[in-house]
Amino acid sequence: MYTYSKDQLEALITKYNRPIPRYTSYPPANFFSDRFVTEDYIQAIKESNTEGVSNVSFYIHIPFCNHLCHYCGCNSIGMRNETVIARYMKALNSELTLLLKQIDHNRKLAQIHYGGGSPSSIPIHYLKELNDQILSHFETIDYPEIAIECHPGYLDEKAWKDIIDAGFNRVSIGVQDFDLKVLKTANRRPSLLPVDKVVELLHQAGLTVNLDFIYGLPHQTAESFAETIQKAISCKPDRLVTFSYAHVPWVNKQMLILEKAGLPNKEEKQQMYDNANGLLVQAGYKPVGMDHFVKPVDELYLALSEGRLHRNFQGYCTRRTTGQVYGLGTTAISQLDNAYAQNTKNLDKYMTLVEEDKLPIFKGYRLSKQEKVTREVIEMLMCNNTLDWQEVSLLLKQHIDEVKKQTAYDLVKLQDLANDGIIKLSPERIEMTQLGHPFVRNVAASLDPLLNGTEENYSKPL
Ligand SMILES: C[S@@+](CC[C@H](N)C(=O)[O-])C[C@H]1O[C@@H](n2cnc3c(N)ncnc32)[C@H](O)[C@@H]1O
Ligand code: SF4
Repeated sequence: MYTYSKDQLEALITKYNRPIPRYTSYPPANFFSDRFVTEDYIQAIKESNTEGVSNVSFYIHIPFCNHLCHYCGCNSIGMRNETVIARYMKALNSELTLLLKQIDHNRKLAQIHYGGGSPSSIPIHYLKELNDQILSHFETIDYPEIAIECHPGYLDEKAWKDIIDAGFNRVSIGVQDFDLKVLKTANRRPSLLPVDKVVELLHQAGLTVNLDFIYGLPHQTAESFAETIQKAISCKPDRLVTFSYAHVPWVNKQMLILEKAGLPNKEEKQQMYDNANGLLVQAGYKPVGMDHFVKPVDELYLALSEGRLHRNFQGYCTRRTTGQVYGLGTTAISQLDNAYAQNTKNLDKYMTLVEEDKLPIFKGYRLSKQEKVTREVIEMLMCNNTLDWQEVSLLLKQHIDEVKKQTAYDLVKLQDLANDGIIKLSPERIEMTQLGHPFVRNVAASLDPLLNGTEENYSKPL
């Protein structure tokens, strides 16, 4: 547990718990513009064949869910009938074909990631077919990541076995909480099978298992969430994520139902985070990036120890598994060296455009050289909790002063963060303190030249 006084913490929360980007990308997705069109995307794909990292990754978005959870901040829609699912899966295959015309096939595949929505909610044979299709076009790196996000509420033993047979080697299970009252208020079904049995089944087949949890929901207390985390530890997952509930009712109106049911306050949320962190560290898990915990043998922890941790919209990865990410499906975001491109959010429009052999881009962002420098700086800080100026200068082949000049580097602002105990500041580096860890987004924001009065649209750190 941390050693700081309640007053000290309250003062920090008052000062720093304000809307701020999550920096899962830089610039954040709200900077994407509809002035970025399909031709810009094709240009960025061509450049991605020769510039930046060479590996190829695919993100595949399956938007459907059996029931929608009130807290959901993801791009999810209700389940559709079999005809629509079949049409959507055919559209994904067609979109892949369109993309494959532009991508250099001599590059190696590092990652396939299915997110959503709930990719596990549709017949799994579709996912196996798409995996086989992608894998037939590329050689892979050793041990590529073939990952899927699953809602365990609808999966029996046969369904889990189908997921194993579809070639997945990483499974992320959305447990969220073991407390049935918390789940019920959030309109969410608990796991159909006991979670420890599911983890065991997946482990026996050699898969890596991650469990997702959320803190900050109605009926959760520091004690109840600690009990949930204890139970999670007893399931022996390889990785575990404790997401801070992002309350953004202007994005999802259903969140107002949770507001009515009563959300825990900032101090209670901080206590939940501290308790979970303490229990997980005590059980031998290592904190990685924001809210992620892994076993010490995990390649993410080894990458963190060596300053090689990266992240994309799909989560954390290492330099080994980093690739240019090509997104497939409605709302999917491609993350390329020079640009981000997002597909249309409208399901019908997505399918119709792809059926007409058109890439379904509706907005995106082309990064300037300066923004690519800030992206590297913010990513290094957010992932590794430390920003070593020499290291970033070597990576970008630019002088340290030049790197700093392209960010919003301001010694007065940084000194203020240091005086508050959020960071340790030296001429060589910026290091997050243990106390400051929940406020890493605030430190990143202090280096962000684009953040000028747009903050009110974001969620708060706690
Ligand atoms: C696409 S969902 C995972 C797959 C599946 N749909 C499920 O719910 O189990 C990704 C994760 O985002 C997290 N999440 C969703 N809404 C959130 C919010 N408003 N704030 C923080 N985390 C959220 C949940 O923990 C969820 O497991
Ligand atoms: S949290 Fe998962 S299951 Fe629930 S609505 Fe969102 S994407 Fe669907």
